Amino acid sequence: MQLKDRVAIVTGAGQGIGAAVATAYAREGAKVAVVDMNLETAAAVAAQINAAGGQAIALACNVAVRADVTAMAEQVTQTWGRVDILVNNAGITRTAMLHKMTEQQWQDVLGVHLTGSFNCLQAVVGGMIERRYGRIIYVTSAAGVLGTIGQINYSAAKAGILGMTKSTAKELARYNITANAIAPGASTPMTETIRTDEKFKDKYLERIPLARWAEPEEIAPVFVFFASDASAYVTGQILAADGGMTIH
Ligand SMILES: NC(=O)c1ccc[n+]([C@@H]2O[C@H](COP(=O)([O-])OP(=O)(O)OC[C@H]3O[C@@H](n4cnc5c(N)ncnc54)[C@H](O)[C@@H]3O)[C@@H](O)[C@H]2O)c1
Repeated sequence: MQLKDRVAIVTGAGQGIGAAVATAYAREGAKVAVVDMNLETAAAVAAQINAAGGQAIALACNVAVRADVTAMAEQVTQTWGRVDILVNNAGITRTAMLHKMTEQQWQDVLGVHLTGSFNCLQAVVGGMIERRYGRIIYVTSAAGVLGTIGQINYSAAKAGILGMTKSTAKELARYNITANAIAPGASTPMTETIRTDEKFKDKYLERIPLARWAEPEEIAPVFVFFASDASAYVTGQILAADGGMTIH
């Protein structure tokens, strides 16, 4: 078991990639806080993990709301004594062409991805510094590197996460805390429109050298790697698990 007795927070873990990561972490022996805005889905994921012999709790939290995040992190610390691993995975899209995008759509996306990740980082980092141990994992996207039509907000947020990853890594290395980012390939409901739209799907697939969509379960092992001791000497890196889409 690569994460035996480690305590992990996975945000946006009620479905999709986050749910697959929470499940993979629990299978590797971690105690997992399944955090999501949607308590119902988070509770279902935690129940599945516990039924399979793992250890999980479900917590409702909007990562964009500072008070929610503080309360969530306190709850995890009260339950398991500390936080070793933070996965900043919660995410949304609010798609619109840039000349039609509302300020609200812009703010909402930056609020979840950037402010949400920052809120969670600050809520757990004090304890990690004290214990001289921590793993911070951010989630970015090909959109942050290549840009995307109709998603200037999402591309800006995901590019911002690259900067956050590098700053976090540089600032916290002295405390034995690593920070890395994963850029998952298209999978899960978030990209369902692209994957099912007759107009887009073939064009999009042509850009993926492995020529197929990802399964969240095949992206989860990369999250295990960055959370485990196998990546102890790796920090500030971006790993794309995207079927080769961002090869350049
Ligand atoms: N699916 C993809 O193809 C893809 C590709 C690249 C990057 N990503 C990134 O991977 C991450 C996970 O994406 P996914 O595809 O699993 O998404 P998803 O939409 O399937 O799941 C996201 C989860 O986050 C939760 N969430 C949304 N806003 C939240 C908030 N403010 N606070 C707490 N929870 C919140 C949702 O309730 C949901 O359960 C996101 O950061 C996304 O941007 C996804």
